Amino acid sequence: MSIELFINPRFEQAKPYGAAEKAILSVAAGEEALKTIAQWPGYKPTPLRTLDALAKETGVSAIHYKDEDARFVLKSFKALGGAYAVEKLVRENGGKPLTVTCATDGNHGRAVAWGAQRAGCKAVIFIHEGVSEGRAEAIRSFGAEVRREGKHYDDSVRRAADVAAENNWQIVSDTSWPGYQDVPKSVMQGYALLAAESLAQGSAPTHVFVQGGVGGLAAGVLSWFWEKQGAQRPKTIVVEPDRAACLLASAKVGQLKNAEGDLETIMAGLACGEASQIAWDILEHGAEAFMAIPDDAAADTMRKLASYGIVGGESGVAGLAGFRIAAADPAMRAALGIDTASRILAIGTEGDTDPVVYEQIVGEPGETVRKRRSA
Ligand SMILES: Cc1ncc(COP(=O)(O)O)c(C=O)c1O
Repeated sequence: MSIELFINPRFEQAKPYGAAEKAILSVAAGEEALKTIAQWPGYKPTPLRTLDALAKETGVSAIHYKDEDARFVLKSFKALGGAYAVEKLVRENGGKPLTVTCATDGNHGRAVAWGAQRAGCKAVIFIHEGVSEGRAEAIRSFGAEVRREGKHYDDSVRRAADVAAENNWQIVSDTSWPGYQDVPKSVMQGYALLAAESLAQGSAPTHVFVQGGVGGLAAGVLSWFWEKQGAQRPKTIVVEPDRAACLLASAKVGQLKNAEGDLETIMAGLACGEASQIAWDILEHGAEAFMAIPDDAAADTMRKLASYGIVGGESGVAGLAGFRIAAADPAMRAALGIDTASRILAIGTEGDTDPVVYEQIVGEPGETVRKRRSA
């Protein structure tokens, strides 16, 4: 498939953020999430970095990059979702510890394991064949048991659900399916903090480029802008790997559809073949466009950010990579209304969450890159 931009025919700029959307994600529930997360030790908003040189190079007014490399000890935005959902479940269970489980490409499982450890819960995390041993080890480092089962993320999702049903464990999934929505709503609600923090830090975007796995992140971010700013909200462009573009595939037919690709991508966190229904319910009329990008675009953007002293992981840079492609293509620029007055927000969702892979792609370790920024 390689590069593709699809303008969403179901996008409705003037559609109010109504009761159906608020039943999934709302500013009120987001403020509650923020109140909870702000009390966690070590919480502070992650940096909103200003990329002036890149703005000049790409012919826009400003680019802000929300840098989740600095999110707690996890180096990814996923801390806001999985760990928050675990805490909420324990609270709803009267404070009694639970056994929690989930499937993961790496980052979500790490967040659930971290949240479980803090809440005194046991965690059993399912990974698939493609998840690196480094990512598995990072999950174990928070005391979780890791089980490797299934070829792809979607297989692990089903496996976790079956084992949870057999053992009466609580599933803390970042994706939803019929009859299972409450926990994924909490996960996505935590993600909305990225938009809340960015706005509070002074970003006033005309365009938000955000990457999609199952769609929860994009929906969480979009929901906040949509409810707060209505028809004045920025355009949301959802960027996926060309071999795992389930949201783009869904946008083309107007309902959930599996990705056509083989899910083989360096963007491990985005290697999802099936989108989340409740995320899609927000994106269907709220997202302006969907993009598919190849792996080399992500790798190139990792190196570009490294040259500024910013550590962005393979999945973390996908939104910015999509923007760079669109900005360089006159037809895409026109289709998205990108011009010299545009203010871009790219959600940089992870740092070097797999340090070995990061170093292979960038040619130096994250530590060296970070030092360059502070030098
Ligand atoms: C670093 C990173 N960015 C983005 C995403 C996409 O989030 P979602 O699956 O909610 O669309 C993921 C998902 O695992 C991720 O790990």
